[in-house]
Formats: sequence, C-alpha cells, structure tokens
Amino acid sequence: MGKFNRSHMCGELNESNIGQKVTVYGWVQKSRDLGSLKFIDLRDRTGIVQAVINRDATEDLFNEAAKVRGEFVLEIIGEVSKRGGAVNTKISTGSIEIVVSGMQIISKAETPPIYIEDDAKESEALRLKYRYLDLRKPSMQKIFFMRHKTAKVVRDYMDEKGFIEVETPMLTKTTPEGARDYLVPSRVQPGNFFALPQSPQLFKQILMVSGFDKYFQIVKCFRDEDLRADRQPEFTQIDMELSFVDEDDVMKVNEGLLHKVFKEILGVEIPKEFDRLTYKEAMERFGSDKPDTRFGLEFKDLGDLVANVEFKVFADALANKGLVKAINAKGVGAKISRKEIDSLGEYVKVYKAKGLAWINVTEEGIKSPIAKFLKDEEMSAILDRMQAEVGDIIFIVADAANVTYDALGQLRLEVARRFGLIDESKFNFLWVTEFPLFDYDEEENRYVAKHHPFTSPMEEDIPLLDTNPAEARAKAYDVVLNGYEIGGGSIRIHNQQLQEKMFGLLGFTNEQAWSKFGFLLEAFKYGTPPHGGLAFGLDRLVMLLTGTDNIKDVVAFPKTQTASCLMTNAPSPADAKQLEELKIATKN
Ligand code: AMO
Ligand code: AMP
Repeated sequence: MGKFNRSHMCGELNESNIGQKVTVYGWVQKSRDLGSLKFIDLRDRTGIVQAVINRDATEDLFNEAAKVRGEFVLEIIGEVSKRGGAVNTKISTGSIEIVVSGMQIISKAETPPIYIEDDAKESEALRLKYRYLDLRKPSMQKIFFMRHKTAKVVRDYMDEKGFIEVETPMLTKTTPEGARDYLVPSRVQPGNFFALPQSPQLFKQILMVSGFDKYFQIVKCFRDEDLRADRQPEFTQIDMELSFVDEDDVMKVNEGLLHKVFKEILGVEIPKEFDRLTYKEAMERFGSDKPDTRFGLEFKDLGDLVANVEFKVFADALANKGLVKAINAKGVGAKISRKEIDSLGEYVKVYKAKGLAWINVTEEGIKSPIAKFLKDEEMSAILDRMQAEVGDIIFIVADAANVTYDALGQLRLEVARRFGLIDESKFNFLWVTEFPLFDYDEEENRYVAKHHPFTSPMEEDIPLLDTNPAEARAKAYDVVLNGYEIGGGSIRIHNQQLQEKMFGLLGFTNEQAWSKFGFLLEAFKYGTPPHGGLAFGLDRLVMLLTGTDNIKDVVAFPKTQTASCLMTNAPSPADAKQLEELKIATKN
C-alpha cells in the first residue's frame, strides 16, 4: 500500500456511498467550529465535500481539527453518512457528509491573498500574480477541463480522418504571417537569431512536399503584436494542411471538426454546413470581415439618395470616393436618450469617423440634426430605403470607405450590446471567402499579402495580376463564430512561375525572396502536390465554448497588455554574463 490511499475524489461522493469508509484529500474551503461539532469543507478539482468531527471523536482528533485553517491540505478518513443538518442543494455532495475518524494536516497555508471563490472580485492584476490560487477556483478548473477535452476531441477527429500530428521547430526562421517576430539569439553563432514561429506555415507546406498528405498539429505560435481581448503574444493553433484539395475539401473537414467539438463539449448540434459570405458582401452588409450575424442591423447604402443634398458632409464624402452608409436600429429610437445618442457619436470617433448623423422616427415626427439640410422627399427616400417605422432610429456615417465600414460596423456591435439585441444562446458559424489577395500599404507604398505570399489567387483572377492586382481575389477563407475570427486558411500556390510573379508584385527581388523563403522555394522544385490548409485559434475557440470574452481566462499562465507575466515577472533583464556569451549589448 502506498502512502496516499485515496479512495474517492471529494466531489464524487453521494448517497450511494453511505456506510462506506473513505479516504479523501484536498484543500480546506472553509472550517466552522460549533464547540462540540467541527465542520470542514474539503475541496479538490471535482468539488467540495463536508466533513464533520463530532462528539464521538477522540480528543487528539478534536485538537488537530482546531488547528485547521482555509487552504490547508488535509487527508480525511471517515464514514460517509446522511447529512445531519440541512441538505445543501448547491453542491453535488450536499446530502451527505463524512464523519471523520482520522485526519492529517499534510500542508499548512498562509491566509491566501485572494478568495478561492468563483464570484470573488479581485483585480485582474492580483489574480494573475497569484495565478496558482486563481486556478484553484472551480470556474477556472472547469475552463481548463473543457480546454483539455476540446484538444482531445480534435486529436481524435483528426486521427479518424487520417491526419498525422507532426511537430515542427520552435527555433526557426521568420514566417510570413506579418506580425513582428520574437527573436532568440544564437550563442554558438553570435549576431545570428532564431525567430519563434508565428505559425508552422512553411513547415507544413514542406511536409506536403514530403508526402505526408494530411498533417495537423496543436501548436504554440508567437506574435509580437498589439494585444487585445482576443490576442495573446503566445497562443495555440490547431494547424492543418492537406494535399490534393481545393477550398471545399478543406471547409468540409473543418465543418465536421467543429460539429464534433460542439456536440461533444457542449451537446450542441451546429449545422453540418456553414453559410458562406464573400468578403465583399460581408463588408457591404456588416462593415466587417468577421461579422456577428446573431442580429440584424445590416448596412444600407444611401449614396444614390444623398449625392446632391444640401448637407455638405454627405455630398463631400461621395465626391471624394467615400461612402454614405446607414443602419436602422429597430425599436431603439423609442428607448434611447439624447445623452446616449451623443455618447454613440463619441464612440464612432474612436474609429476615426468625423461624426454620426441620426434620424429618430418618433410619434411626434422626425427628430434629426440633419433634417434641416434635407428636403422632404430626400428624407422620405431615406426612411423608405431604411424601412423605418415609428420607434426606430437610423444612424448614418459618411466617410472614406474604410472608415465608414469600420466605424459603422463597430457602432452596429455597440448598439446591439447596449440595447440587448444579441441572442447569446446562438452559435452563428460563417465562412468568409474570396478575400482580396493584396492590401495596399500606404506607408510603404506597395502591396502586401493580405493572408501570406503563398496564398493562391482565384483562377479567374490570375489575369488581374498583370492589369489590376488590387482587384484580385484569393483562395482564402476564414471561419467566423459570433463575430470572432476563429480560424483562417487558404489554398497555396504550387506553381513556381505564379509564385515568382507574387513575389514580384509584393516588391521582393528574387534574392530577397530566396533569402527569406529559399528553403521552401528549393523544396518546391522537387515535386509539389497542390495543397491547402487552415489554422484555428484554439484559445479563441475555447473562449467561445466556455462563454468568456477574455482570452486570458482560457490560458493557464497568460500575459498582460504589456506582454508580461505578473506571476514570474517575465520578461526581465538578462545576466551580464549571459549577454556577454551572446555578444549582445543593450542600449538604454
Ligand atoms: P492566421 O494568422 O489567420 O493564419 O491565424 C490562424 C488563427 O489563429 C488565431 N490567432 C490568434 N489567437 C490568439 N492570439 C493571437 N495573437 C492570434 N493570432 C492569430 C486566430 C486566427 O484565425 N498559417 C496561417 C493558417 C493557414 O493559412 O493555414 C495562419 O497562421 O483565431
Ligand atoms: P453639424 O451641422 O456639423 O452639427 O453636423 C450635423 C450632424 O452631422 C451631427 O449630428 C454630426 O455628428 C453629423 N456628422 C458630422 N460629420 C459626419 C459624418 N462624416 N458622417 C455622418 N454624420 C456626420
């Protein structure tokens, strides 16, 4: 027999164990001393069980129990019996208790700096500094259990579908995802640096050249970029690549994967095929390439109606090739205060809009700061287009296209959040397809790849590479869930000439392309199968599965906004000796 003879986990015990002698281990959630009776609530990852030390206990046991404090680690031995006092319906073990016959204090604990309770309200900074205590909370343990289960369902599914998991290097060369790299200096070759991978993109393409046919990996990726509620500097991808496939094949595998994950993790049956929207349509209807389609408030274009109105803002925006777009917040007009309208006006300014025009359709008639600039027939044409009824309020943004899309798209989300228009029980999956192949970088005055330089153009758009590259569309697709981009991928270029043309358009000389990606180009000389793939953000997927909107909740040891870890205090200065070995000097 070993030293620790655990018979049960705390949360497993129930009335079927009555009469059994059990041994449990765990942390003290709470202890209460009622004189002749002492109660200890013992917690492990499965739940909490109540233990009672009663009149029949020995004096030694009584004395030992008197020393117990919160978060002590105990061994408790005793007999399960029906609870003497009131049944606690909040916990699964609520109708039983352990009548203690033996107890051992294994570890003492200082008073913890945070409460080990789900609804405790400490600051995030304190929770992250004492992350090991924060992770003791049942809600946190539940998240990591679900994360583990999700990864397991993914591995099982990929295995069933004939994918094999292959690990790729963490110490590598820069990859083409377009964020800043994290660099690792080489001691053996001073002055040279590895880059941590932004994704395994190039390696997985090489694995296709190697004939692996179907690869996947659950893998850490590193990107030094501005952090947000759904971004971490190190995050995990479910990464895959397949040979001899087109877009539909990749989409089908991934619809199946998400179907299985949602069924097994949440018991939710999602569609076997997801709706598809082209990038163009997504922008025109929602102002976003990752639209939240759980509610309406779709964009309508007013350009043709307002080109000649007296209101300069509209006419000028259109004259400068901008847009005038509007949403109708149905029923919101009746509820919204003037102050709230003004605060939405401030909100769109964050997204660079110069202002927000609005038309409130009330019982008493139209209220709008722009009414004075519009003829009656102009106003009624707008109301008609917007299908406006009494109680509705219309919001209009006029600006350069990108500003209009972004500001009105963000306003659409904000109005839906503030006025409770989102059905939180829905999981709306969507493919966004036909992304532009290029973005134009105004600062650098050149095209950059919207996805990455190995993404294939759509066949019918290949001639546009010579005539109008800005209009060329890519064989790229994103999976969107409730307004989050949870995954993205593309069919890759497997034709040498086309690849060279892409590099040319991206402004790389042949030498530059070879110095960056030469190993891939070399590999492509020796028989390249057509291939394509996709990667999910596992953290984002788990966020949505667990219903949190903060990615830190689903990462065991996350980083803050300034990319630091409050528990370990990383990053921190390096020893002078280490820097010397690396031949690195730091500047102040
Ligand atoms: P992409 O750059 O779109 O594609 O990344 C794939 C998915 O990874 C997630 N993701 C992140 N999650 C958390 N924090 C971050 N900083 C972060 N950055 C990205 C997103 C995103 O959809 N190699 C390609 C995939 C391919 O083409 O096969 C790639 O990395 O959910
Ligand atoms: P003004 O006459 O400048 O007070 O503007 C009248 C209304 O137009 C105000 O509600 C402004 O917020 C709004 N407005 C100003 N600029 C824009 C714009 N670019 N798009 C939409 N509305 C605007």
